Amino acid sequence: CGIVGYIGNRNVAEILIEGLEKLEYRGYDSAGIAVLGNDEVKVKKYKGRLSVLRENIQNEDINGTIGIGHTRWATHGEPSDVNSHPHTNSTGSIAVVHNGIIENYMKIKQQLQEKGYKFVSETDTEVISHLIDYHFEGDLVEAVKKAVADLEGAYALGVINKDNPDRLVAVRKDSPLIVGVGEGENFIASDIPAILKHTRKVYILEDGEMAILEKDKIELMKTDGTPIKKDVYVVNWDVEAAEKGGYDHFMLKEIYEQPKAIRDTLSPRVNNENEIRLDDISITKEELDRINRVYIIACGTAYHAGLLGKILIEKYVNVPVIADVASEFRYGNTFIDENTLMIVVSQSGETADTLAALRLAKEKGARVIAVTNVVGSTISREADDVFYTWAGPEIAVASTKAYTTQLVSLALIAMQMATIKGTITEEDYSGILNGLNKLSKQVKSLLEKEDLVKEAAKEIYNAEHIFYIGRGIDYDVAREGALKLKEISYIHCEAMPAGELKHGTIALIEEGTPVIAVATQEHLYEKMVSNIKEVKARGAYVIALAKEGNEDIEETADSVIYIPEVIDELTSVLNVIPLQLLAYYVAVMRGCDVDKPRNLAKSVTVE
Ligand code: G6P
Repeated sequence: CGIVGYIGNRNVAEILIEGLEKLEYRGYDSAGIAVLGNDEVKVKKYKGRLSVLRENIQNEDINGTIGIGHTRWATHGEPSDVNSHPHTNSTGSIAVVHNGIIENYMKIKQQLQEKGYKFVSETDTEVISHLIDYHFEGDLVEAVKKAVADLEGAYALGVINKDNPDRLVAVRKDSPLIVGVGEGENFIASDIPAILKHTRKVYILEDGEMAILEKDKIELMKTDGTPIKKDVYVVNWDVEAAEKGGYDHFMLKEIYEQPKAIRDTLSPRVNNENEIRLDDISITKEELDRINRVYIIACGTAYHAGLLGKILIEKYVNVPVIADVASEFRYGNTFIDENTLMIVVSQSGETADTLAALRLAKEKGARVIAVTNVVGSTISREADDVFYTWAGPEIAVASTKAYTTQLVSLALIAMQMATIKGTITEEDYSGILNGLNKLSKQVKSLLEKEDLVKEAAKEIYNAEHIFYIGRGIDYDVAREGALKLKEISYIHCEAMPAGELKHGTIALIEEGTPVIAVATQEHLYEKMVSNIKEVKARGAYVIALAKEGNEDIEETADSVIYIPEVIDELTSVLNVIPLQLLAYYVAVMRGCDVDKPRNLAKSVTVE
């Protein structure tokens, strides 16, 4: 989602819409503005692109010099006019725009409903406007402070109020927000591009900080009221760089967003007692007991994520799972009936073959769970249950954060199914849960090894062929690594099960042929070391991924990247990070168009 806000002397509606336009690259499904003028707060919001909002306010008298605007990427509640932001209290005197997810919104909603508050939308954001109203005694700042003290989750907020017509209040926790410093006017925005046309001077808010904006004054404080001082940051990027958050490409930005994306996938599903609670999936024990076969169907990167789902569900839920690419599955012999569960995985929720597989399954009476990133997508609407990955918009064609959050999602779903069925031991359950909880930090630590990966990229970027090998789960992530590199660098890449190499592919290994060897499965480690020796003996240049503690691998491989200690089932989430970075840097070194590789599309809606 995107937020923009303004307080000053100019007519605000146009400034807000222009600001939102600059956030269009994030993709969105609805947009809205709230303008304070003539002693009232006017809200206009519509499902659809920004142009719909623009057309609808053309002939409206929506004048004012204070306002907030929002573009929405749906989380709670499908894209619709009423679910769009800004949200207001019942009298319409308070308007709020929000990015993030309020985790305890159901509880707050119930409490407010008991006090007589009426809700009109399905969003988590609407609780904020009513909650501010509940605490409101004339001073907007005090009411916002009290309201945010009740909130759990992530939020960047912009708030305006009819009775405080000279102020705009902004708060940040776990969702980015900046304050733009103008002359006789000030701004807020979730992203720098939204305000770059007006000012280059910004304050970057940190978690737990708020800003009170007036025309000629900005007051910064913690949400408990403690005043703070901050340096003004002068933005020296152009708009294009700013859209990418200062990164050279969306792909790199999205690679770096993974610690947050993983946290966002997990945090609404793991409660304070450290239990997995998936309200998203309503399947009962009775229904699950009947299921005798599971299909996991997807395309591309989503299929590679699905492969982990197969391993986890077979191991912990004890049902056979068939994982297949949608375009093959559709035209093969399928064994689907009302005792079948299908899990479709799709970032966009629009891939034609995946959608067709879903429809086929439903026609034959199967139950369908969708794992997707896009609320309101066709697949999300047609599946029986939807599990959102909450990765945020993914712009680069090469999928990165969608993959890692799909892996985490599938692990959560497998755990949930196993818990309902009673097929998992407490030890396994807590092992995986602890592992999941550590991932976000571990991914962050791996991203810090970027330079090491760059060095490795230098060694291989001129290659014509690159081979990826691994065993078990490591083979699955090797396939994703090979896909990443081939799609953006145009180098021929092939992933092989390491044990299968000697049955053909090893014939292609020559002096200097790069081989990326993933060797992070404990019980397969020795076997992998042997396979590395086999390719080394034929002259391969080997870059290995291994777990910390297995340093002896340096005797065999030319270069090693270590991943932190993690249970074998979750290694892919970590292994893929250096593989993504490697693909990225090789493509950059070859001068390729990283974000828009030739012949490829982000979402393939043809069969
Ligand atoms: C396209 C994209 C891939 C993606 C695949 C499946 O080929 O380029 O990155 O993995 O489609 O897309 P989906 O949206 O269904 O996950």
